[in-house]
Amino acid sequence: DKISLDEAKKKAARTAVDEWVTEGTKILGIGSGSTVVFAVQRIAERVWKEGELTDLICVPSSYQAQHLILDYNLNLGSLDRNPNIDVAIDGADEVDGHMVCIKGGGGCLLQEKVVASCAKKFIVVADYTKQSTRLGEQWCRGVPIEVAPMAYVPIKLQIEAMFGGEVSLRMAKVKAGPIITDNGNFLLDWKFVAKREYNWDEVNRGITMIPGVLETGLFVNMAHKCYFGMADGNVKAQT
Ligand code: A5P
Repeated sequence: DKISLDEAKKKAARTAVDEWVTEGTKILGIGSGSTVVFAVQRIAERVWKEGELTDLICVPSSYQAQHLILDYNLNLGSLDRNPNIDVAIDGADEVDGHMVCIKGGGGCLLQEKVVASCAKKFIVVADYTKQSTRLGEQWCRGVPIEVAPMAYVPIKLQIEAMFGGEVSLRMAKVKAGPIITDNGNFLLDWKFVAKREYNWDEVNRGITMIPGVLETGLFVNMAHKCYFGMADGNVKAQT
């Protein structure tokens, strides 16, 4: 029997929380997106129903995460106060065979990468549609890149010249005009050339060096373990 995508996300998120969040976990990074909601629900269940993890401090990686933490009445921390994160749990748009992740489909990549970089362990939770051998198999919107608004045209041209493909400015759906991130910036989506062999570490470094680029949605050598909720109801771990 096939389970729904939400059920798959929920299973992955709950498994990750139960394996990684223990009484010894003091500071937990909270990612963004729809899968992380299930992780926060499981944490809240353990705090409020099972009486565990009462001193756990949650550090958000977006406006959405901050409100999730507040909505479930968990302890809200910040990097100013809690810069040493034990574990961060986050979703991803696509994960390849080396656990390189594309993130930022929901627009929150800059703070997510900072929080992940402060965590001793970065754990990814996702449904089976995110798992790939090579990037570009599943996620067709490309790599999100957060940029200073005044620099988006030169950045677009430089990325296309350096790495090929096509870069577009992400437009809002309801408001007229571009999407503005939690940090007041624009988002570019780079549709890379799916058939080309990219060294994602080099690409990430190359794009990050362009003046005006704040961060890319390429998370290279960051994930410690990924949990995928599979269609058959099992959870598959990747390390
Ligand atoms: C947010 O900007 C993204 O990086 C999310 O982590 C990613 O889009 C995963 O979201 P879902 O859990 O909704 O797939």
